[in-house]
Amino acid sequence: MTSTTSPDSQFRTAVVPAAGLGTRFLPATKTVPKELLPVVDTPGIELIAEEATEAGAGRLAIVTSERKVGVMAHFSEDQVLEDTLSDRGKDVLLHKVQRAPGLIEVVDVRQDEPLGLGHAVAQVESVLGDEEQAVAVLLPDDLVLPFGILGRMSQVRAERGGSVLCAFEVSPEEVSSYGVFEVTDTDDPAVKQVRGMVEKPAAEDAPSNLAAAGRYVLDRAIFDALRRIEPGAGGELQLTDAIDLLINEGHPVHVVVHDGTRHDLGNPGGYIKACVDFALDNPAYADELREWLGGRLDH
Ligand code: UTP
Repeated sequence: MTSTTSPDSQFRTAVVPAAGLGTRFLPATKTVPKELLPVVDTPGIELIAEEATEAGAGRLAIVTSERKVGVMAHFSEDQVLEDTLSDRGKDVLLHKVQRAPGLIEVVDVRQDEPLGLGHAVAQVESVLGDEEQAVAVLLPDDLVLPFGILGRMSQVRAERGGSVLCAFEVSPEEVSSYGVFEVTDTDDPAVKQVRGMVEKPAAEDAPSNLAAAGRYVLDRAIFDALRRIEPGAGGELQLTDAIDLLINEGHPVHVVVHDGTRHDLGNPGGYIKACVDFALDNPAYADELREWLGGRLDH
Protein backbone atom coordinates (compact mmCIF):
# COMPACT_ATOMS: atom_id res chain seq x y z
CA MET A 1 0.00 0.00 0.00
CA THR A 2 1.15 3.54 -0.57
CA SER A 3 1.21 5.92 2.34
CA THR A 4 -1.07 8.91 2.00
CA THR A 5 -2.55 11.38 4.42
CA SER A 6 -5.87 13.15 4.20
CA PRO A 7 -5.26 16.90 3.68
CA ASP A 8 -7.30 17.72 6.83
CA SER A 9 -5.43 15.37 9.11
CA GLN A 10 -2.83 16.70 11.52
CA PHE A 11 -0.94 13.40 11.48
CA ARG A 12 0.26 10.79 9.02
CA THR A 13 1.28 8.12 11.51
CA ALA A 14 -1.16 6.50 13.93
CA VAL A 15 0.66 4.72 16.75
CA VAL A 16 -0.89 1.60 18.27
CA PRO A 17 0.96 0.43 21.38
CA ALA A 18 0.42 -3.32 21.54
CA ALA A 19 3.46 -4.64 23.40
CA GLY A 20 1.86 -4.93 26.85
CA LEU A 21 1.47 -8.27 28.59
CA GLY A 22 -2.32 -8.22 28.82
CA THR A 23 -2.32 -9.70 32.32
CA ARG A 24 -5.95 -8.78 32.99
CA PHE A 25 -6.92 -11.22 30.27
CA LEU A 26 -4.89 -14.25 31.28
CA PRO A 27 -4.88 -17.14 30.61
CA ALA A 28 -6.19 -16.32 27.09
CA THR A 29 -3.36 -13.84 26.52
CA LYS A 30 -0.67 -16.37 27.39
CA THR A 31 -0.54 -17.28 23.70
CA VAL A 32 -3.13 -15.06 21.98
CA PRO A 33 -2.39 -11.31 21.84
CA LYS A 34 -5.43 -9.52 23.26
CA GLU A 35 -5.48 -7.30 20.16
CA LEU A 36 -6.44 -10.40 18.14
CA LEU A 37 -9.39 -11.39 20.32
CA PRO A 38 -12.46 -11.08 18.08
CA VAL A 39 -15.28 -8.62 18.63
CA VAL A 40 -17.86 -10.99 17.11
CA ASP A 41 -15.60 -12.05 14.20
CA THR A 42 -13.17 -9.16 13.76
CA PRO A 43 -10.00 -8.72 15.85
CA GLY A 44 -9.97 -5.51 17.88
CA ILE A 45 -6.78 -4.38 16.09
CA GLU A 46 -8.63 -4.38 12.74
CA LEU A 47 -11.32 -2.08 14.15
CA ILE A 48 -8.56 0.24 15.38
CA ALA A 49 -6.88 0.20 11.94
CA GLU A 50 -10.24 1.07 10.37
CA GLU A 51 -10.73 3.99 12.75
CA ALA A 52 -7.22 5.34 12.07
CA THR A 53 -7.74 5.03 8.31
CA GLU A 54 -11.06 6.88 8.48
CA ALA A 55 -9.36 9.63 10.48
CA GLY A 56 -6.92 10.19 7.62
CA ALA A 57 -3.84 8.34 8.86
CA GLY A 58 -1.51 7.09 6.14
CA ARG A 59 0.12 4.36 8.15
CA LEU A 60 -0.16 2.44 11.37
CA ALA A 61 2.95 2.05 13.54
CA ILE A 62 2.15 -0.96 15.71
CA VAL A 63 4.42 -1.34 18.73
CA THR A 64 4.89 -5.05 19.35
CA SER A 65 7.16 -7.42 21.18
CA GLU A 66 8.55 -10.80 20.21
CA ARG A 67 5.61 -12.46 21.96
CA LYS A 68 3.09 -10.62 19.80
CA VAL A 69 4.16 -11.14 16.20
CA GLY A 70 0.69 -12.48 15.36
CA VAL A 71 -0.63 -8.93 15.54
CA MET A 72 1.42 -7.95 12.48
CA ALA A 73 0.55 -11.21 10.70
CA HIS A 74 -3.10 -10.15 10.69
CA PHE A 75 -2.14 -7.39 8.22
CA SER A 76 -0.24 -9.71 5.82
CA GLU A 77 -1.79 -11.30 2.76
CA ASP A 78 -2.37 -15.04 2.98
CA GLN A 79 -2.32 -16.22 -0.63
CA VAL A 80 -3.03 -19.88 0.12
CA LEU A 81 -6.10 -19.05 2.20
CA GLU A 82 -7.31 -16.47 -0.33
CA ASP A 83 -6.90 -18.88 -3.28
CA THR A 84 -8.78 -21.61 -1.40
CA LEU A 85 -11.68 -19.32 -0.52
CA SER A 86 -11.74 -18.01 -4.08
CA ASP A 87 -11.77 -21.54 -5.60
CA ARG A 88 -14.66 -22.48 -3.31
CA GLY A 89 -16.63 -19.39 -4.25
CA LYS A 90 -16.59 -18.10 -0.65
CA ASP A 91 -16.58 -14.46 -1.70
CA VAL A 92 -17.88 -12.95 1.54
CA LEU A 93 -15.19 -14.70 3.57
CA LEU A 94 -12.55 -13.82 0.95
CA HIS A 95 -13.48 -10.17 1.29
CA LYS A 96 -13.23 -10.37 5.08
CA VAL A 97 -9.77 -11.96 4.88
CA GLN A 98 -8.49 -9.38 2.38
CA ARG A 99 -9.79 -6.43 4.35
CA ALA A 100 -7.04 -5.90 6.96
CA PRO A 101 -4.07 -6.11 4.53
CA GLY A 102 -5.82 -3.63 2.24
CA LEU A 103 -6.74 -1.06 4.87
CA ILE A 104 -3.55 0.83 5.62
CA GLU A 105 0.24 0.49 5.47
CA VAL A 106 1.52 -1.03 8.72
CA VAL A 107 4.98 -0.66 10.25
CA ASP A 108 6.27 -2.93 13.01
CA VAL A 109 8.05 -1.05 15.79
CA ARG A 110 9.67 -3.20 18.45
CA GLN A 111 9.62 -2.61 22.18
CA ASP A 112 11.99 -5.22 23.59
CA GLU A 113 10.77 -4.94 27.17
CA PRO A 114 7.37 -3.79 28.44
CA LEU A 115 8.67 -0.63 30.11
CA GLY A 116 5.40 1.27 29.95
CA LEU A 117 3.10 3.07 27.53
CA GLY A 118 5.39 6.11 27.41
CA HIS A 119 8.34 3.90 26.52
CA ALA A 120 6.27 2.14 23.83
CA VAL A 121 5.30 5.46 22.21
CA ALA A 122 8.92 6.71 22.42
CA GLN A 123 10.05 3.83 20.15
CA VAL A 124 8.07 5.28 17.24
CA GLU A 125 10.12 8.46 16.88
CA SER A 126 12.75 6.61 14.83
CA VAL A 127 10.26 5.79 12.04
CA LEU A 128 8.80 9.30 11.70
CA GLY A 129 9.63 11.57 8.78
CA ASP A 130 11.14 14.99 9.54
CA GLU A 131 7.96 16.68 8.32
CA GLU A 132 5.66 14.86 10.78
CA GLN A 133 4.82 17.41 13.45
CA ALA A 134 2.26 15.28 15.31
CA VAL A 135 1.18 11.67 15.74
CA ALA A 136 -2.07 10.03 16.72
CA VAL A 137 -2.01 7.35 19.41
CA LEU A 138 -4.81 4.79 19.67
CA LEU A 139 -4.85 2.36 22.57
CA PRO A 140 -6.17 -0.87 21.08
CA ASP A 141 -7.95 -1.82 24.34
CA ASP A 142 -10.28 1.11 23.90
CA LEU A 143 -13.11 1.12 21.40
CA VAL A 144 -14.41 4.68 21.08
CA LEU A 145 -17.65 4.63 19.13
CA PRO A 146 -18.89 5.84 16.75
CA PHE A 147 -15.64 6.47 14.85
CA GLY A 148 -14.85 10.12 14.21
CA ILE A 149 -13.36 11.41 17.45
CA LEU A 150 -9.80 11.51 16.02
CA GLY A 151 -10.97 13.72 13.16
CA ARG A 152 -12.54 16.10 15.67
CA MET A 153 -9.32 16.06 17.75
CA SER A 154 -7.29 16.87 14.62
CA GLN A 155 -9.57 19.83 14.01
CA VAL A 156 -9.01 21.09 17.57
CA ARG A 157 -5.24 20.87 17.12
CA ALA A 158 -5.54 22.80 13.85
CA GLU A 159 -7.48 25.55 15.69
CA ARG A 160 -5.69 25.64 19.05
CA GLY A 161 -2.30 24.01 18.46
CA GLY A 162 -0.48 21.69 20.86
CA SER A 163 -1.83 18.30 21.80
CA VAL A 164 -5.38 17.02 22.06
CA LEU A 165 -6.69 14.19 24.22
CA CYS A 166 -10.08 12.49 24.52
CA ALA A 167 -12.36 12.40 27.56
CA PHE A 168 -15.66 10.79 28.39
CA GLU A 169 -18.00 11.58 31.25
CA VAL A 170 -18.17 9.08 34.12
CA SER A 171 -20.29 8.90 37.28
CA PRO A 172 -18.76 9.73 40.71
CA GLU A 173 -18.70 5.98 41.52
CA GLU A 174 -16.56 5.33 38.44
CA VAL A 175 -13.91 8.06 38.70
CA SER A 176 -11.61 5.96 40.90
CA SER A 177 -11.01 3.56 37.98
CA TYR A 178 -9.65 6.19 35.58
CA GLY A 179 -7.18 8.97 34.90
CA VAL A 180 -9.26 12.10 35.51
CA PHE A 181 -8.67 15.53 33.92
CA GLU A 182 -8.46 18.84 35.71
CA VAL A 183 -9.82 21.30 33.16
CA THR A 184 -11.02 24.82 32.46
CA ASP A 185 -13.74 25.73 29.99
CA THR A 186 -13.19 27.11 26.49
CA ASP A 187 -15.70 28.85 24.22
CA ASP A 188 -16.67 25.37 22.92
CA PRO A 189 -18.62 23.27 25.49
CA ALA A 190 -17.16 20.03 24.08
CA VAL A 191 -13.54 21.26 24.29
CA LYS A 192 -11.75 21.91 27.61
CA GLN A 193 -8.23 23.07 28.34
CA VAL A 194 -6.31 20.58 30.46
CA ARG A 195 -4.54 21.90 33.56
CA GLY A 196 -3.49 18.51 34.92
CA MET A 197 -4.44 14.89 35.45
CA VAL A 198 -5.04 12.78 38.54
CA GLU A 199 -4.70 8.98 38.35
CA LYS A 200 -7.59 7.04 39.91
CA PRO A 201 -8.75 9.65 42.46
CA ALA A 202 -11.30 8.99 45.21
CA ALA A 203 -14.69 10.46 44.23
CA GLU A 204 -14.30 13.37 46.69
CA ASP A 205 -10.83 14.26 45.34
CA ALA A 206 -11.70 14.06 41.63
CA PRO A 207 -11.10 17.39 39.86
CA SER A 208 -13.86 16.62 37.29
CA ASN A 209 -16.01 13.79 35.96
CA LEU A 210 -13.95 13.65 32.75
CA ALA A 211 -12.01 10.40 32.38
CA ALA A 212 -9.25 9.75 29.87
CA ALA A 213 -10.02 7.55 26.85
CA GLY A 214 -7.24 5.97 24.80
CA ARG A 215 -7.06 8.46 21.95
CA TYR A 216 -4.38 11.13 21.59
CA VAL A 217 -3.20 13.60 18.98
CA LEU A 218 0.26 14.46 20.27
CA ASP A 219 2.61 17.17 19.16
CA ARG A 220 6.08 15.92 18.26
CA ALA A 221 7.31 17.65 21.43
CA ILE A 222 6.07 14.55 23.28
CA PHE A 223 9.20 12.61 22.25
CA ASP A 224 11.50 15.17 23.83
CA ALA A 225 9.30 15.19 26.97
CA LEU A 226 9.49 11.38 27.13
CA ARG A 227 13.29 11.63 27.18
CA ARG A 228 13.15 14.06 30.10
CA ILE A 229 10.82 12.22 32.52
CA GLU A 230 11.85 9.64 35.08
CA PRO A 231 10.29 6.16 35.22
CA GLY A 232 7.33 6.03 37.64
CA ALA A 233 5.48 3.13 39.28
CA GLY A 234 6.95 -0.28 38.40
CA GLY A 235 9.88 1.29 36.54
CA GLU A 236 7.51 2.19 33.70
CA LEU A 237 7.72 5.36 31.63
CA GLN A 238 4.26 6.91 31.82
CA LEU A 239 2.81 8.79 28.86
CA THR A 240 0.74 10.94 31.26
CA ASP A 241 3.93 12.12 33.04
CA ALA A 242 5.30 13.39 29.71
CA ILE A 243 2.00 15.13 28.93
CA ASP A 244 2.05 16.68 32.44
CA LEU A 245 5.56 17.97 31.80
CA LEU A 246 4.40 19.64 28.57
CA ILE A 247 1.41 21.23 30.36
CA ASN A 248 3.70 22.61 33.08
CA GLU A 249 5.91 24.12 30.40
CA GLY A 250 2.96 25.96 28.83
CA HIS A 251 2.29 23.62 25.90
CA PRO A 252 -1.45 23.81 25.06
CA VAL A 253 -3.29 20.57 25.82
CA HIS A 254 -7.03 20.25 25.26
CA VAL A 255 -9.55 17.45 25.57
CA VAL A 256 -12.50 16.76 23.34
CA VAL A 257 -15.40 15.35 25.35
CA HIS A 258 -16.61 12.28 23.52
CA ASP A 259 -20.35 11.98 23.11
CA GLY A 260 -20.79 8.28 22.44
CA THR A 261 -19.88 4.81 23.65
CA ARG A 262 -16.62 3.40 24.91
CA HIS A 263 -15.72 -0.24 25.46
CA ASP A 264 -12.65 -1.49 27.34
CA LEU A 265 -11.49 -4.61 25.50
CA GLY A 266 -8.59 -5.11 27.92
CA ASN A 267 -10.56 -7.04 30.54
CA PRO A 268 -13.11 -9.85 30.15
CA GLY A 269 -16.06 -7.83 31.55
CA GLY A 270 -15.61 -4.93 29.13
CA TYR A 271 -14.84 -7.26 26.24
CA ILE A 272 -18.08 -9.21 26.73
CA LYS A 273 -20.10 -5.98 26.64
CA ALA A 274 -18.41 -4.99 23.38
CA CYS A 275 -19.18 -8.39 21.81
CA VAL A 276 -22.84 -8.20 22.87
CA ASP A 277 -23.09 -4.60 21.65
CA PHE A 278 -21.65 -5.46 18.21
CA ALA A 279 -23.66 -8.69 17.92
CA LEU A 280 -26.92 -6.85 18.67
CA ASP A 281 -26.11 -4.55 15.74
CA ASN A 282 -25.35 -7.46 13.41
CA PRO A 283 -28.36 -8.89 11.53
CA ALA A 284 -26.69 -12.33 11.45
CA TYR A 285 -26.86 -12.64 15.25
CA ALA A 286 -29.15 -9.92 16.63
CA ASP A 287 -32.56 -11.64 16.75
CA GLU A 288 -31.38 -14.92 18.18
CA LEU A 289 -29.13 -13.20 20.74
CA ARG A 290 -31.86 -10.81 21.87
CA GLU A 291 -34.27 -13.68 22.38
CA TRP A 292 -31.71 -15.78 24.24
CA LEU A 293 -30.62 -12.85 26.43
CA GLY A 294 -34.26 -12.10 27.29
CA GLY A 295 -34.77 -15.67 28.48
CA ARG A 296 -31.44 -15.79 30.28
CA LEU A 297 -32.12 -12.56 32.16
CA ASP A 298 -35.40 -13.97 33.46
CA HIS A 299 -33.55 -16.66 35.44
P1 UTP B 1 -2.28 -1.56 29.62
O1 UTP B 1 -1.57 -1.55 30.90
O2 UTP B 1 -3.72 -1.20 29.59
O3 UTP B 1 -2.14 -2.94 28.88
O4 UTP B 1 -1.50 -0.61 28.59
P2 UTP B 1 -1.34 -4.24 29.25
O5 UTP B 1 -0.09 -3.92 29.97
O6 UTP B 1 -1.19 -5.01 27.99
O7 UTP B 1 -2.44 -4.99 30.09
P3 UTP B 1 -2.57 -5.45 31.60
O8 UTP B 1 -2.69 -4.19 32.40
O9 UTP B 1 -1.34 -6.28 31.91
O10 UTP B 1 -3.81 -6.28 31.57
C1 UTP B 1 -2.16 0.22 27.64
C2 UTP B 1 -1.65 -0.06 26.24
O11 UTP B 1 -0.24 0.16 26.16
C3 UTP B 1 0.41 -0.97 25.64
C4 UTP B 1 -0.52 -2.15 25.88
O12 UTP B 1 -0.29 -3.16 24.90
C5 UTP B 1 -1.90 -1.50 25.79
O13 UTP B 1 -2.35 -1.46 24.45
N1 UTP B 1 1.72 -1.11 26.32
C6 UTP B 1 1.77 -1.10 27.67
C7 UTP B 1 2.85 -1.28 25.56
O14 UTP B 1 2.81 -1.31 24.31
N2 UTP B 1 4.04 -1.43 26.21
C8 UTP B 1 4.14 -1.40 27.55
O15 UTP B 1 5.26 -1.53 28.08
C9 UTP B 1 2.96 -1.23 28.30
